[in-house]
Amino acid sequence: MNSPTQPKAVQQVPLQSPKGTRDFYPEDMRVQNHLFDVWRRACLDFGFEEYEGPTFEHLELFTEKSGQEIVTQLYNFKDKGDRDIALRPEMTPTLARMVNQKGNSLKLPLRWFSIPRLFRYEKAQRGRLREFFQLNMDILGCNTIAAEVELLSSIVNMLKAFGLTADDFSIHVSSRRLLSELLDRLGVPAEKKTVVYSALDKRAKIGEAEFKSLLGKEGMSPPAIDSIETFFNFKDIAALEAWMKDGGLVDPGAMATEGQAASGLEELKSLFGYMRALGLEGFLSLDTSVVRGLAYYTGIVFEVYDKSLGMRAVAGGGRYDNLLANLGGNSMSGVGFGMGDVVLADLLREKGLMPSGREPLDYYLVDVAPNETRLPNPQLMLLAQKLRAEGRRVGYSLSGEKMKKQMVQANDQNAGRVLFFGSDKGGEDRYEVKDLKTGEQSVSAFEDL
Ligand code: HAM
Repeated sequence: MNSPTQPKAVQQVPLQSPKGTRDFYPEDMRVQNHLFDVWRRACLDFGFEEYEGPTFEHLELFTEKSGQEIVTQLYNFKDKGDRDIALRPEMTPTLARMVNQKGNSLKLPLRWFSIPRLFRYEKAQRGRLREFFQLNMDILGCNTIAAEVELLSSIVNMLKAFGLTADDFSIHVSSRRLLSELLDRLGVPAEKKTVVYSALDKRAKIGEAEFKSLLGKEGMSPPAIDSIETFFNFKDIAALEAWMKDGGLVDPGAMATEGQAASGLEELKSLFGYMRALGLEGFLSLDTSVVRGLAYYTGIVFEVYDKSLGMRAVAGGGRYDNLLANLGGNSMSGVGFGMGDVVLADLLREKGLMPSGREPLDYYLVDVAPNETRLPNPQLMLLAQKLRAEGRRVGYSLSGEKMKKQMVQANDQNAGRVLFFGSDKGGEDRYEVKDLKTGEQSVSAFEDL
């Protein structure tokens, strides 16, 4: 039993944060802010506006529309009003809901971005966490390939702003529409397509044999399965087109409609044509194995891969024609992508492209005659206040240490200059200042600081 003087045994709380989450200490926050700053600037440069939604939503928003993989990863619970709630695993359904809510009052096309914190109950693995951030850029209400071109250009632009080059990443592009048209020609019924997409998305992980057996179980004939295998090996549009035409796998009667290409193949050709014209073709490659796990994509799909280690997915996205209508809104097509912070940060760290050191101070005020009370001089604090009011970043010691210690703190806090408060060389509103980079010393009036 505890004696009255002994504290009660406290239940041990783990020091670590829950699995798959992160603590952001100031040095981690610096890195995080760097990512957010570059992302935000790149989005604003492309004329995008920022939006945000709630971190939790009604469960149905995700169970209905996101697709099986995300549903198995949901963090969901009943709230105190017995409602089914889920922490958001992705932003796109929230975006669609918000746009639907405003109906016709929005001016189209929308160019919106957001940097949500997302939650997925993932298996712990490199580059995948249970709580992460993801830049989302979406264009809604533009039916032409111009929207895809704009988004892919912005990806190249922002990754270059981080210091990455075409040697570091590549955008792999394919088309759900093309795949869907191929499946039509191979006689796969519409209701089987989702299952086939999901098998295709897993193909790299499960291997050829299991993939073929999965498609066989879905009732696909061996020649049809072989055609899909062949389809997946094309890395060149011209060769793919020739193969599809020879095999009667394109619809000869397909016609272009307003702004829209006649087929998935034409759309891909148009996208590559634009990217060539913009001098960005070197960042792009055709990769028919890109399918994307999420259920709502209907057109161009893409994944951005890190070229060095194990081809990790830095970003992924595509066009979704029916999501808004399926959520009860007007028919409106959207295209967008998500770029996670985890893989990107790993990549930038490996390439030595992360900023180091803490945010600099303009001035550190050193008290040359700290008093016995171990408290800062109020006149020094007043000077700090005045300088801060002029927009300077200012630090000083809170505990009246010896000068030497104050100088160490000035260095630790990354001060550009030290101001010697109370130095003989100063005077009425004049201060002795030392530039810590050059070592130069001078006396300046307050206005010149
Ligand atoms: P997603 O492919 O599920 O797409 O995710 C996009 C990116 O988010 C991935 O390439 C990866 O960088 C990052 N990511 C995904 N899961 C995790 C995780 N558990 N931990 C760390 N990073 C992760 C979407 O979410 C779509 N909603 C994107 C979109 C926007 N499509 C259209 N608009």
